[in-house]
Amino acid sequence: MAPTSAPLPPLLPARPGEAQHQRAARSLREAAKAGVLLPGTRLSSRTLASGWGVARNTVQDAIDQLQAEGYVEVRPRSGSYLARQSETLRPVALQPPAVPLSLWATRALGAQPWRGGPGIAAGDGAGTFEIDLRLGQSPGLFPSELWAQALARRAGDAEALLSAGELGPAETRSAIADWLTRERGAAVTADMVMLTGGTQSALDLLGRIYLEPGRTAVIEDPGYPGARRAFGAVGATLWPVAVDTGGLDTTRMPERATLAYVTPGCQFPTTATLGAARRHELLAWAQRTQSFIVEDDYAADFHHAARPPTPLQGLAPEGVILLGTFSQSLAPALRSGYLVAPPAVLGVLARTRPLTDRHPPTLDALALSDFLASGGYMRHLRRARSQVAHRHGVLLDALQAHLPQLGARPARAGLHLYLPLPPTLSEAGVISRAAEAGLGLSGAAEYGQLTHAPALLLGFAHLGPEALREAVRRLKAAL
Ligand SMILES: Cc1ncc(COP(=O)(O)O)c(C=O)c1O
Repeated sequence: MAPTSAPLPPLLPARPGEAQHQRAARSLREAAKAGVLLPGTRLSSRTLASGWGVARNTVQDAIDQLQAEGYVEVRPRSGSYLARQSETLRPVALQPPAVPLSLWATRALGAQPWRGGPGIAAGDGAGTFEIDLRLGQSPGLFPSELWAQALARRAGDAEALLSAGELGPAETRSAIADWLTRERGAAVTADMVMLTGGTQSALDLLGRIYLEPGRTAVIEDPGYPGARRAFGAVGATLWPVAVDTGGLDTTRMPERATLAYVTPGCQFPTTATLGAARRHELLAWAQRTQSFIVEDDYAADFHHAARPPTPLQGLAPEGVILLGTFSQSLAPALRSGYLVAPPAVLGVLARTRPLTDRHPPTLDALALSDFLASGGYMRHLRRARSQVAHRHGVLLDALQAHLPQLGARPARAGLHLYLPLPPTLSEAGVISRAAEAGLGLSGAAEYGQLTHAPALLLGFAHLGPEALREAVRRLKAAL
């Protein structure tokens, strides 16, 4: 078939910032899609350039680009032609396919929405508030300047940037091991550390390598929805164990399980500390049932008075997988945390993680390594810790002075206070009356399945003393 001679397609108006050859390429592409130029049409750069009043080089660049995209084919000693397959590049109006969701997705979507993080739960007052004590708000203490410096320093480190492993750069794993040994009394060497995208990614990975339908995961009740949802999504049977003022009631553990997720340092959400006797009972149970303990040490960096107890991992490094996060001490948006496990477990993770995200983001990991090793993290933490502890004290004092009947107790660590309400009060009622007065509150309802004791979770770390005192005045009026 003889090549068709080309009608002159319109030169489309330029878009801001668009180079001339891109504009010319777009004009030809659109003409091909619209059928103004038919497959087999010869594209003459001379004709197009003179018809459009642009340089011939510009048109040639556009044709080269279209050739790379497959719109144009070059026939040796003949010229450039609109490719025959360009017809197949036309947009096709398809309905989104009605593909059923996988079982994982169906379970993950669950009955109730979860916004992620300990975060603002579905049952909390919605909207914006003059004073917002809801959980999940960052204390706003991110050390921006120091972090920017650390990132800039490592951004040019091509050698380190190009040599990342699945578990994270060796120097960062080593800095985290040193930090945990020194600060937390954990029993860690660098080969036991994996960098994670925060605790949630670790829970997801652990769920996928150890759990499936027919296996049991013990969770605390009330407890952290992030663990419940991740383990539920892989089809594990969830075994909620009640929590009281002494933390997890270890007399209620099942006869058999695969793992138990616990927050012994600062139970989420009640903030109780697991005492020595229960710690030993829990470890004995793990030994007897051959189950892993997954210890979430999320609040360890923000203790308000005495240091939190040594993690269980420090007592039984072979049986405990320790999870930590920089979400609270730096920022949740960094998605940065760590998992500490016996080398055999890490070996499995090193081979399964690449299926998900290959390896942690290296630049962030290198910056973190410098930040830890230089003492910058410690200095940041000291400042942040003293501010958070002060705010914790202000809220506690105000509650004890104005609402003594609620018996507010200090939290040992973390960014919220757990405030039990008398059983005669409706948690939802208090939250909605407070919302009318411009005060945002989180309730405990979302966190438990067994029995529900009405309680409020008061996130305080992002607010100054005056706002905290005013919050207590408004809370009093809402009761
Ligand atoms: C119990 C618990 N675990 C873990 C985290 C942190 O999760 P992530 O590291 O996924 O942000 C939080 C919230 O800060 C939490 O409340």
